[in-house]
Amino acid sequence: MADIAIVGGCGYVGLVYSVAFAKLGHTVTSVDVDAARVASLREGRSPIFEPGLDDLLHSALTTGRLSFTSAFHDAIPAAEFVFICVGTPSDALGKADLTYVADAARQIGAHATGHTVIVNKSTMPIGSVEYVSGILAEHASSGSTFDVVSNPEFLREGAALHDVLNPSRIVIGASCQAAADRVAGLYASLSAPILMTDPRTAEMIKYASNAFLATKISFINEVSNICEQLGADSTVVAQGMGLDDRIGARFLQPGVGFGGSCFPKDVRALAAMAREAGLDSSMLSAVLSINQAMRGLVVEKLTQRCGGIGGKTIAILGLAFKPGTDDVREAPALDIIGRLLACGATVRATDPVANHHVASAFPEVSLFDNAYAAAAGADAVVLMTEWDEYRGLDLDHLANAMRGNILLDGRNALNVRTAEDAGLHYIGIGRYGASARAFIFSERPSLSNTLAAD
Ligand code: UGA
Repeated sequence: MADIAIVGGCGYVGLVYSVAFAKLGHTVTSVDVDAARVASLREGRSPIFEPGLDDLLHSALTTGRLSFTSAFHDAIPAAEFVFICVGTPSDALGKADLTYVADAARQIGAHATGHTVIVNKSTMPIGSVEYVSGILAEHASSGSTFDVVSNPEFLREGAALHDVLNPSRIVIGASCQAAADRVAGLYASLSAPILMTDPRTAEMIKYASNAFLATKISFINEVSNICEQLGADSTVVAQGMGLDDRIGARFLQPGVGFGGSCFPKDVRALAAMAREAGLDSSMLSAVLSINQAMRGLVVEKLTQRCGGIGGKTIAILGLAFKPGTDDVREAPALDIIGRLLACGATVRATDPVANHHVASAFPEVSLFDNAYAAAAGADAVVLMTEWDEYRGLDLDHLANAMRGNILLDGRNALNVRTAEDAGLHYIGIGRYGASARAFIFSERPSLSNTLAAD
């Protein structure tokens, strides 16, 4: 078991890894410049909503294997491993801003003693292992030495602890085999394939993985637009494609597109790296522009069906960028709320956990505890985040609460027939003629029955 320091330990990735490493038996000191978060975490209160996090945080604090501090000198000198988990936001050109990484490296360099393995866990551009090594060398006190290793994270918000404790793969990029082996040792109790490679390749694996998933989403969204014009149902098209295991069904759900703190930022950063290398990244540009266009399409559809938006009341169901999190960073819902307000609509909104993040950003939006309250008196309801409680809505109840009857299902999460039976005018994403097709589809024997009969 190792002594680990986690810099940025009160942020999303840092906190999840802090409690996960403590659960695996390591001793973890999380250091963060945000003193308020440190104070709250010391008392067992997590600043983020993530399933299972509170329980693991409490047990890690109780066993004494996890502690929080805002003083680097409390965390770094004794650590064998220091993880850098600080944010790498987009700068004005779409590049990853390494200001926080550089600050972290300076602090680590100044406080480390003996030999320390530094692990770049945040998503950092290609070449960051060399970049961090350079800063450490500049600020190191005499006698201290470092190995810097890239070990990207692949956790999804909403399933973060599951992903860290049941990883699909552990990627380690190092120029020193001994350092790579030591980092691999930290995960020894997990059963996952370990891929060891050079630092630049490891860094690229992370960007390429996120960019590929984002590409799948933009691909099916472009197909869904074509479906809508040509009279096909994109949800069934995605299902039919996904049954081919070379394609796979995941990340092929047509909808209002991707958001969050990762996909948009990482695709932009990879495109920026390509540009700097003199390459044309037309595919990545298309992924981003299709994603933006999906948001515009929501407003366009509402404008058409409502006969204009000015003066209309629109209810938004779901504010988080996806279910299972209260994160609203680059959430499609926020973008659409901004566009609706700009068109003169009155906006009512609800989310099971994210309302508080929207209150200050959009003071003119009325926020409600549940979908029925938000829908009261609305001309149109727009489902933006496919929370389970919205999938299970009583659509008769919803229709009765509304003034109008437009239901725009931005995630294709609702049953078209049930909506139409409730008197709602259903609009999906790429579901032209979906009512008829959903009927035919549900009347057919299921695929497994058909295969069994054959
Ligand atoms: C993503 C990756 O899935 C993780 O592997 C990665 O580690 C993480 O970024 C990161 O770089 O830290 P996350 O941003 O938490 O994780 O969320 P995802 O579950 O990937 O969803 C991203 C967005 O895509 C959401 O807005 C979601 O609604 C959207 N999405 C997803 C679709 O629009 N359609 C789909 O079929 C799937």
